[in-house]
Amino acid sequence: MNNNEKSRTYEALYDRVKEMRDLGGISAEILSSMGFLWVGYYLVKDGNLVLGPYSGPPACELIRKGKGVCGTAWQDARTIIVPDVEEFPGHIACSSLSRSEIVVPLFSEGEVIGVLDIDSESLDSFDSVDAEWLEKIARLSEKILNQI
Ligand code: SME
Repeated sequence: MNNNEKSRTYEALYDRVKEMRDLGGISAEILSSMGFLWVGYYLVKDGNLVLGPYSGPPACELIRKGKGVCGTAWQDARTIIVPDVEEFPGHIACSSLSRSEIVVPLFSEGEVIGVLDIDSESLDSFDSVDAEWLEKIARLSEKILNQI
């Protein structure tokens, strides 16, 4: 997929996600539209990231602050793109098939309340186009979480 096709695919995906209220369903939409390996949410609970709704193979249930890509995105409160998971110190390998990853934090009142985590079977799958659209989906996800 070139970047134009990717943007168009994300645009159509975003239109569907806008109408959705279930994070598991949103994960499945992202996974099937974009062909990723794993898409899901980790939510902050009692000082850890706990596995929330997801789509894909089974995954680690608990991630500590500052650990792995997810715990680092939480600690730094910023989107992290990892072109090659083997090059990321402390990466947590839930699936040996994962080669690259993006993690987008979710906020409420300035605090990180969780992350949207996505794994790909290909190296270097994520760039600023993914970050831009997944951050938009993160904003919708925050609204859903704040209504629960
Ligand atoms: N790789 C992540 C762990 C979660 S799985 O990818 C689903 C990390 O390093 O935080």
